[in-house]
Amino acid sequence: MTATVTELDMEVVQGFAFKVFGDITAQQMGPLTTVGDRLGLWQTLAEIGPVTSTELAARAGLHERYAREWLAAMACHGYLKYDAETGRFRLPAEHAFVLSNTDSPLYLRSVFSMSEASWRHIDQLAEAFLHGGGIPQSEFGDRFWCGFERFTGASFKNFLNQDWIPAVPSVDAALRNGGSAADIGCGNGQALLTLARAYPQATLIGYDNYAPAIAAATANARAAGLDDTVRYAVRDVTEGIPGSYDLITLFDVVHDAPHPVQLLTAVARALKPGVHLLHPGVQLFRRRPAQPRASAGDRRLRLLREPELLHDAGAGGGWPGHRDVYGRGAPAGVRDRGRLRESRAPGVCEQPVQHLLHIADLTPSQ
Ligand SMILES: C[S@@+](CC[C@H](N)C(=O)[O-])C[C@H]1O[C@@H](n2cnc3c(N)ncnc32)[C@H](O)[C@@H]1O
Repeated sequence: MTATVTELDMEVVQGFAFKVFGDITAQQMGPLTTVGDRLGLWQTLAEIGPVTSTELAARAGLHERYAREWLAAMACHGYLKYDAETGRFRLPAEHAFVLSNTDSPLYLRSVFSMSEASWRHIDQLAEAFLHGGGIPQSEFGDRFWCGFERFTGASFKNFLNQDWIPAVPSVDAALRNGGSAADIGCGNGQALLTLARAYPQATLIGYDNYAPAIAAATANARAAGLDDTVRYAVRDVTEGIPGSYDLITLFDVVHDAPHPVQLLTAVARALKPGVHLLHPGVQLFRRRPAQPRASAGDRRLRLLREPELLHDAGAGGGWPGHRDVYGRGAPAGVRDRGRLRESRAPGVCEQPVQHLLHIADLTPSQ
């Protein structure tokens, strides 16, 4: 039975209503921020400094009315500052670090453009809730994957060669001396392109079972002049990985793979003995569990939990194999169930959004 108003703590009700209202507003910022992204408005604001709506309209080729409303919405939401005396809007340098600086470790603008796909698939998602199954990866489209590439690319640019690889000195040494690395679920290929810049002697190959990602990665390598250094190939890694490697990386792959145990088993078989796997997000997985309380106040967890429902369930085909790994969280769950064995304690590097697990000697247990 629904509680009557007199039974309710109206302060709590009001606080929660404002929270929901804030979420609605934030959600409405998605399309507006994405329009700004597509039309280069964030870049323009960062370059030209404080503007009136007329100036922005002239510079970006917009209708002035739209420029005015967009600037006002962004100022109301706190993304821009407004100076009532001059009638100018400006993007503070600290906000530019998040919204327009593509080299920043906290560059987040492209994430907005990814939610477009989630809304587009809302009917299919509701069907999946009722009947299982998922939404094919291809239906998320190039814009989603390009947004994802820009998001994770910022992490690779800032952490891969500076922190993650040097955190495991033997891997650093192997790659400097012509060793090999495979990036599994390489997507549009940015991790290996970043690695190739610091380790030109290394043999680098990326595998992904989604052909358009491999086409995009190959084009990216060509555009970067690195197509002699890095190779990409279409491959479903659960069917095995050719060759053996000094380093295997899995960036944002295991949690949405339809068959994570098979995937990790193939990875374990392709690692040279005593060598290394880098796999991010593990601290989050360990704390991911079922209890909502564990994640309620943790924005980093929320950032990963929501995409998991909106995208990963779909691309993962409804997670047919996930119970195998995620019963208690991965890769702890992997160990607990005796499918795979970590033979040494993981070392963890931190970055603003994720943690990174380094596992040495992940081996199949039978
Ligand atoms: C969320 S994306 C991550 C892309 C990239 N690693 C990054 O961080 O930008 C996950 C990728 O894993 C790939 N993937 C999932 N299962 C796979 C499998 N069994 N074999 C190869 N690739 C797989 C998907 O096609 C997708 O491109």
